[in-house]
Amino acid sequence: MIKKILVTGGAGFIGSHTCVELLNQGYELVVVDNLQHSSFKSLEVIQSLTSRSICFYQIDIRDQDQLEAIFEHEHIDAVIHFAGLKVVSESIYAPLEYYENNVSGTITLLEVMKKFACKNIIFSSSASVYGDLAAVPILESAPRSTTVPYARTKLIIEDLLIDLARSDAKWNIVILRYFNPIGAHPSGDLGEDPKGLPTNLLPYVTQVASGQLKEVQVFGADYKTKDGTGVRDYIHVVDLARGHVAAIQKLAKGSRLSIYNLGTGKGSSVLDIITEMEAVVGHPIAYQLVERRAGDIAVSYADVSKAKAELHWQANFDLRRMCEDSWRWQCRHPLGFEE
Ligand code: NAD
Ligand code: WQD
Repeated sequence: MIKKILVTGGAGFIGSHTCVELLNQGYELVVVDNLQHSSFKSLEVIQSLTSRSICFYQIDIRDQDQLEAIFEHEHIDAVIHFAGLKVVSESIYAPLEYYENNVSGTITLLEVMKKFACKNIIFSSSASVYGDLAAVPILESAPRSTTVPYARTKLIIEDLLIDLARSDAKWNIVILRYFNPIGAHPSGDLGEDPKGLPTNLLPYVTQVASGQLKEVQVFGADYKTKDGTGVRDYIHVVDLARGHVAAIQKLAKGSRLSIYNLGTGKGSSVLDIITEMEAVVGHPIAYQLVERRAGDIAVSYADVSKAKAELHWQANFDLRRMCEDSWRWQCRHPLGFEE
């Protein structure tokens, strides 16, 4: 039975929304986060939204002694491992930092889990492990191929977890490959808080809509897609968070090793996103068509039938709702958590 869950990176975008859903389902949570890319305020919001408390440790997961002290003190049944660096472009310039944080951090976590015989883990992987080889809709069995360091760290960790599951039948491992998470908690008080200039599309679009940025640069209008712009599978972060609750229920039954796509199964272009957001904000959003961004692929969307069949989970929120919730968060917290 899984009662107490350690959430690494629980103060971040996806981790914080997952904490809300887990607390609403009655789980006890221990969060570890070094707050390098997040704020303590997100943890306060989680607690006020759920009227539940979280046990929080501000530590780096690479600090084995501190991690061991937590496992010694808390009785952890399972781990959801979000902690990691995630900016694709940054990883190209700082590969050592990415391998060190993501891969070494995960190895330290797994060593501590093994030492304390806690062998249930959910890992945050990414659709970026598919690279540009996979046909759409992308099945979990599609070939993985990638050239950017960020995605390679995910691929290496996936392989490490697969080897671990083979080495010892007591491990229960769920690997979740997220497509493009957007949206925010419906309260408008929890959302994505990129520090500095956003690199992902949605925060960029909302910051242009609010007047904080001048115009959206649309990277490439010559892809073989319906309007020439890149197509992605955008998923509401609350749907994604609920996918983790489903995965925890799967772990509790004993999953061995399972891999699932978490997406909606639908593709939307960059211009679809801008048009939908214009309808939500009620005014035009300035954009300019520019060159393709290096490393981008044309189209990516998930085959979601495996998660539906085995996790009994599917995404429910549509693009309009994703844009409405992103916009509410932007309006209520234009400067993120640090205002
Ligand atoms: P985020 O940056 O908002 O959250 C990550 C959290 O981990 C942050 O709070 C950060 O402070 C913390 N962290 C990072 N390194 C740490 C370390 N060594 N020790 C302790 N804490 C550490 O990112 P997110 O969007 O919430 O992503 C969560 C996970 O999902 C990441 O592993 C990311 O790679 C993966 N993922 C994200 C996306 C996406 O588009 N957001 C898509 C696919 C996969
Ligand atoms: C979406 C679309 C861009 C910004 C990355 C990672 C993936 C996951 C999500 C972490 C693309 C276009 C973007 C802009 C644009 N993250 N775009 N103007 O590249 O699909 O995925 O983030 O794991 O692993 O690879 O997401 O939001 O950057 O881009 O035109 O200013 O928007 O070209 O078509 P991406 P994104």
